[in-house]
Amino acid sequence: MKYFIGTDHAGFEVKEFVISLLEEKGVEVEDLGCHSPDRVDYPDYAHKVAEAVAQNPGSMGILICGTGIGMSLSANKHRGIRAALCHDHYTASMARRHNNANILCFGARVVGKGEIESILEGWFGSQFEGGRHAQRVEKIEEW
Ligand code: RB5
Repeated sequence: MKYFIGTDHAGFEVKEFVISLLEEKGVEVEDLGCHSPDRVDYPDYAHKVAEAVAQNPGSMGILICGTGIGMSLSANKHRGIRAALCHDHYTASMARRHNNANILCFGARVVGKGEIESILEGWFGSQFEGGRHAQRVEKIEEW
């Protein structure tokens, strides 16, 4: 499983921490920026990651900004992208189990490192359940 990761300046500091957690899980990670703490515009990185996920079937993404809101709003403009803003283990788990989310978003100014670990456990420890949820996810894509 390949993951594309992107952040703005607000998420830059935790990016290496998140990459190290992903690599511990044996996940291949491609870092699409940003590459310094200089101020940038979050949609630029959300669009890069969303395009990469959309063009690489089976891949997933992680987007981090201050709140996670701007990243999720931007990524969800792309067809086939289901970017979920998660705050804890439960929301991350449900994003995979019920929504078949393919991009995990969170806010570096909202959650600390302990919570980030818990979010990743929830996300990676869960799988899409299909069934009635598949029908609902299809309705998202139909619009
Ligand atoms: C940057 O200040 C902040 O607006 C951004 O990181 C994010 O929280 C936007 O949704």
